[in-house]
Amino acid sequence: MLPEITSRADVENLVNTFYDKVRDDPTIGIIFNEIANVNWDTHLPKMYDFWEGILFGSGNYRGRPMPPHFKLNESHPFRPEYFDAWLALFYQTVDELFEGEKAAEAKMRAMNIAAVMEHRIGQINAGTNTSLLHRNE
Ligand code: HEM
Repeated sequence: MLPEITSRADVENLVNTFYDKVRDDPTIGIIFNEIANVNWDTHLPKMYDFWEGILFGSGNYRGRPMPPHFKLNESHPFRPEYFDAWLALFYQTVDELFEGEKAAEAKMRAMNIAAVMEHRIGQINAGTNTSLLHRNE
């Protein structure tokens, strides 16, 4: 039996384990390591806050998740398989560490946000983005 996600420490464990996999991933590792050249010392705490906010309504994430991805997509267009890889790693990580209601919620929220992101990036890349007013959300 695996534990439930119940605390900030659990969220940190989830996020750390997930990004360990992301960094080594043959499809999306390059975006983090080379294209964005992510500063992990600032990115990881930001992601602890993001996921703590989603799962428990607490944490200090005050940013907007979409714009950095739109920006990255400009220099390195996102492909559908990036979203597949991202989600597969996220699901794998949750399932290897946790089970229960919050674990299911984490996967559902990740899938929903990924779907919105993929849709909006798809529109931008197809030149059919009509929601210019919302581009910076
Ligand atoms: C194709 C899939 C994805 C890729 C390649 C990707 C890549 C990245 C990268 C490289 C950054 C760091 C940008 C920087 O600091 O320079 C970032 C930030 C972030 N990502 Fe993603 N991401 C993906 C999907 C997602 C999804 C599905 C979510 C949410 C469930 C998400 C949530 C975030 C958040 C919250 C940030 C921080 C934004 C901020 O600075 O406030 N990402 N992502």
